[in-house]
Amino acid sequence: SHEEDVPEVQLFHGTVVHSTASSAADVLPEHVLVVRRGRVERLVPARQLSDQLQRLGGTAEDVVHLEADQLLLPGLVDAHIHPCQYPNAGLALDLPLLEWLQRYTFPLEARFRDEEFAAGVYETVVERTLRNGTTCASYFASIHRPATERLADICRRRGQRALVGKTCMDMNSPADYCENTDESLQETAAFVAGQLRRRCSLVRPSITPRFAITCSERLLNGLGKIANQHQLHVQTHLNETLPEKALVAKLFPAAHSYTDVYQRAGLLGPRTVLAHCLHHDEGELQIMANSGAGVAHCANSNNSLRSGLCDVRKLHEAGVSVGLGTDMSGGYHPSVLDSVRATLHTSNVHAIHRDDYEALTFRDAFRMATLEGARALGLDDIIGNFEPGKQFDAVVAHVGHEESNVDLLTPHSHDELLQKFVYLGDSRDICAVYVAGRQVVSNPTQEWSKSG
Ligand code: GUN
Ligand code: ZN
Repeated sequence: SHEEDVPEVQLFHGTVVHSTASSAADVLPEHVLVVRRGRVERLVPARQLSDQLQRLGGTAEDVVHLEADQLLLPGLVDAHIHPCQYPNAGLALDLPLLEWLQRYTFPLEARFRDEEFAAGVYETVVERTLRNGTTCASYFASIHRPATERLADICRRRGQRALVGKTCMDMNSPADYCENTDESLQETAAFVAGQLRRRCSLVRPSITPRFAITCSERLLNGLGKIANQHQLHVQTHLNETLPEKALVAKLFPAAHSYTDVYQRAGLLGPRTVLAHCLHHDEGELQIMANSGAGVAHCANSNNSLRSGLCDVRKLHEAGVSVGLGTDMSGGYHPSVLDSVRATLHTSNVHAIHRDDYEALTFRDAFRMATLEGARALGLDDIIGNFEPGKQFDAVVAHVGHEESNVDLLTPHSHDELLQKFVYLGDSRDICAVYVAGRQVVSNPTQEWSKSG
């Protein structure tokens, strides 16, 4: 089980990078991170190493020495991903959102009624995202409870932290991929009960109305009630494209806005994450900010489906936390590092068009991929950086695959290594991945011994 794989103490000695309240990316060479029973205990300068070992009654065996060009980073947070769309990654990006859903996406998701097919895809997704450094993912599964339970089981077994949602849709969907309202609510309640019964802190259920277009008012209200009853996480899509926004206005004439549709159902709160959020007006932005909901910015998807350009700077100025989502397969890549780069490019496009626009820096994007992503999911009390008390979710990065040409840049600073990882890194550069202190990935092509 999970606990059995977690050493009592582990000390990581080397260069530690994380986001803090005062720094988007604090680079700390020659530090020691003390991990006890899977949690961060303290982060201190390396000259205190022997004192720490003595205090803990540990030995040299308990210390993992990172190499000079390795970095210890917080695990990456994918704030929005559709694991049931992975077979389509890189395909079928020639239609706008609503047509893309009907033509390509709903038919693929409908196949997840076959639990074995689903389990095979989900196994691959969890393995692939972990290998890319995703220690925590907010998953939109299909509408099927059995397949979604399999996904949750796979996350637990492989040791990935996850918010898992059985997607809900009771209208404007194909006949073979649609629920009736009561069935959707009952299956959601059963899914939630099954997950809560396990008392597993790693995997939590998330209430998942797909979006207003496929959810009746009664369904949204019922889901809001379940979410509030158990203080659950909530995820949905909001203001991704203009045709979507126009259709929502037609379907919900009593609501003041698209955002208000969710607000009046009780679905907006600090544990809610809203994917996309490109096309809101000022009033909607205020509702989002006041509710404490976070945004999952899905830049690859927004560009691939030509949905529009999200203005992250404006969300930040309103006080909204913004995490990063791969949004597979609207986005075509399963790595959060790809989301980081698409985020920076999108921000640069704003800056190209507007003299007064201050583009996001790679440090800003690093924070969004870690601490801010955790906050957008309502998980920053337990993950996101190496603050004492937090769970040890981490990535050991060794920026060294040949096309990152680090070798042409000697000597290099730790800050330059971080930049190389952000812009050129991929799964080849990830030596090891830890979730709650358990090593869940060990890259066979990299020098890295299983610690403990
Ligand atoms: N809006 C509703 N469903 C989806 C989906 O599956 N992908 C994206 N990108 N947007 C959505
Ligand atoms: Zn999505």
